Amino acid sequence: MSTYILMKILESAPKRYDLGIRLLTRGRLDKIYDRLASRIKEEDKVLDIGCGTGALSLRAAQQGGTVKGIDINSQMLEIAKIRADKLNLDQKIEFGEMGVAELDREEADSYDAVMSGLFFSELAEDELSFSLREAKRILKPGGLLLVADEVRPDKVYKKIINGLRRLFFGAVVFIFTQTTTRALKNLPEKISGSGFEIESIKLNRGENFIELIARKP
Ligand SMILES: C[S@@+](CC[C@H](N)C(=O)[O-])C[C@H]1O[C@@H](n2cnc3c(N)ncnc32)[C@H](O)[C@@H]1O
Repeated sequence: MSTYILMKILESAPKRYDLGIRLLTRGRLDKIYDRLASRIKEEDKVLDIGCGTGALSLRAAQQGGTVKGIDINSQMLEIAKIRADKLNLDQKIEFGEMGVAELDREEADSYDAVMSGLFFSELAEDELSFSLREAKRILKPGGLLLVADEVRPDKVYKKIINGLRRLFFGAVVFIFTQTTTRALKNLPEKISGSGFEIESIKLNRGENFIELIARKP
């Protein structure tokens, strides 16, 4: 799953993003997103942060949620809107060009779920802390934080294998985009440290991809 780092290249070509991610992850990300979205109930109010082309937003709306998807990349959002139209979900989803830094505009205790797919790994440490704090603030008590992302493995040999993969892919990505992603360190600890109760954690075999569900107490 460390090939997720290649998503940076795909983001610079939004039209190829969805196909590229599907090929890179061999459909596994679709299954993870389906599982996370299955936690959304009819009439839930959902925020998808760093929504990109809408992979999680669309699924949440298909579950009956009323969704707001935010992202700073207008081209990704254009594709998300087209996808929502095609699925007749445009009444259920509002996509907006907005960064996480603007989350403080959202009302406290107002969402049933906050979703984040391949997004936290794009943030600097202080942005991540801010996002988690804001997610907690805007969720209703009992509301869910649903996360899928790349993480750093704990076991030394897995760390080494992962480090070597990232070295290669990181160089490729940097050549194409002059940016890179950061596999997340201690994500569950950071989430519980922000006041969430962890409900479940699922790691892939390489222990470098996490599917996490947490709840605001
Ligand atoms: C790898 S994509 C994931 C998109 C989508 N969640 C998915 O799973 O397909 C990460 C997205 O985060 C967005 N992003 C990066 N930094 C952001 C920020 N500070 N605020 C909002 N969106 C941001 C990028 O524009 C990009 O669309």
